[in-house]
Amino acid sequence: MLEGKRILLGVGGGIAVYRAVELMRLLMKQGADVQVVMTQSAQQFVTALTFEALSGHKVHHDLFDLTKDHGMGHIQLVRWADVVVVAPATANFITKITHGIAEDLLTTLLLACEKPVLLAPAMNISMWQAQATQDNIQTLKKRGFTVVEPVAGALACGEQGAGRLAEPETIVQALLPLLTAQSLVGQRWLINAGPTIEAWDAVRTLSNRATGTLGALLANAASMHGAEVTLVAGCGTPVTAADVLRIDVESALEMLQTCEAQAQGVDVFVDTAAVSDFRFATLDQGSAGLKQVEKPKHKLKREGLERLHIELVANPDIVALIAQMPQRPKQVIAFAAESENHLAYAKDKLQRKKVDAIVANDVSNMGTKLASGWWVTANGTQEITKQSKEKFVEQLIQYIVDCA
Ligand SMILES: Cc1cc2nc3c(=O)[nH]c(=O)nc-3n(C[C@H](O)[C@H](O)[C@H](O)COP(=O)(O)O)c2cc1C
Repeated sequence: MLEGKRILLGVGGGIAVYRAVELMRLLMKQGADVQVVMTQSAQQFVTALTFEALSGHKVHHDLFDLTKDHGMGHIQLVRWADVVVVAPATANFITKITHGIAEDLLTTLLLACEKPVLLAPAMNISMWQAQATQDNIQTLKKRGFTVVEPVAGALACGEQGAGRLAEPETIVQALLPLLTAQSLVGQRWLINAGPTIEAWDAVRTLSNRATGTLGALLANAASMHGAEVTLVAGCGTPVTAADVLRIDVESALEMLQTCEAQAQGVDVFVDTAAVSDFRFATLDQGSAGLKQVEKPKHKLKREGLERLHIELVANPDIVALIAQMPQRPKQVIAFAAESENHLAYAKDKLQRKKVDAIVANDVSNMGTKLASGWWVTANGTQEITKQSKEKFVEQLIQYIVDCA
C-alpha cells in the first residue's frame, strides 16, 4: 500500500517511543522508505541505533549538522518526504509547533514543511486533557494537520484513560488518504461484495466460493480517494476501513433491499457481489414450505429421508434493478465472472442489464490474491492484465473516473 512512498517519521520524547519502532517496521513492511528524526528527549528512551539499524538510514537529530547539505538538512528532509508522521507527538512538541517555535531539528523542519503532516499524540491523560493541549490540537486540526488521537487504556504512569499511542495499524490507515489523490471527493459510492447465502432450513445453506476481497478492497480504495462509501457486505467479506459505512447482509433478497434503500443520491454503484442466482422456494416433502424471505427457524430432520426434492426459484437481478431505478446512480458497473466466452457474455449483459460497464473476469480469480479481466463498455473493451487485487481496484477506479 505504501510502495515507493517516502515517509519522514518524527519521534518525540515519550514513553511510547518503543511503539514508534513498531510503526516504522509496519510502514517499511508496506513498502515505504522511512527516515527518522528524533528529538533529544526521545533519545533518552530509545537509542538512535535501534531506528538506524532497522530503517537502514542514519537517524537525524542535530539541527546544526554541517556535514549535511551545507547545513540545510532540515529543508532537504521535508522536500524529500511525501508525508511527515510524528509519533509519539509529545505535549511539548504539539505546543511548540502550534506557536511556530523552531528550536531543534524536528520543530524546525515542521515549520518549513509544506507536505501533509500526521500527528499521533501520546501522553498522560491529564496532559492530554489539559486545556492548553486541547486548544493546540484544535488549532492544528484547523490548519490541516491530521491527528490520530490517543486511545484509552492503562497508561505507563499507572493511571487509566485516553493517552496511549494509537495502534500502528490505525496510524497507517489514517496515513493512506494523505498519500492518495483525492479524486473522488464529493462522490457517493455504493458497492456490494461477497457471496450471498440462501438458507433452506435453520442450519443448512446454499452459497458460493466468493470471498468478497475485491469488493472490500474497492470500497477501501474509493474511500481513500475521498468518496463517501457504503458497502453492502455478504458473509465473510473481509474487514473494511473505518470510514466505509458497512452493512452486513446474508441473502440475495436482503442484499437487494439494502442496495435499493442505499441507492438514493449515489454517483457510482459497483456490483461486485457473487449473488446467488437461486433461492429455496419450498421444501418438497410435505413440510410447511419454508419461504426464504424470512429466515427459517426449524431444522429439517434427516431420519427417514432417502431422497429430498428442493425447489429453487430465481433471485432478482440486483444490478439490473438498480440500473433501472427511476433515479438510478450516475454510473452502474457490474462484475461478470465466467468460465468461458467472457467477452460475448459481457457484451450481452451490458445491453440486457442496461449498465454502463461490465468488468468481465474469469472464475479462476475467485479466492486468489490476483485479478485480471476486461473493462467492457459500449465504446469498446480494454484488457486488465493479471495483478494484485489492490492494484486491480486502483485501475478500476481510474476506468470508472475516465468513463464518467
Ligand atoms: C519518564 C518520562 C515519560 C514521559 N512521557 C511522556 C509522554 O508520554 N508524553 C509526553 O508528551 N511527554 C512525556 N514526558 C515529558 C517529555 O519527555 C518532555 O516534555 C520533553 O520536553 C519532550 O521533549 P520533545 O517534545 O522535544 O520530545 C515524559 C517524561 C519522562 C521523564
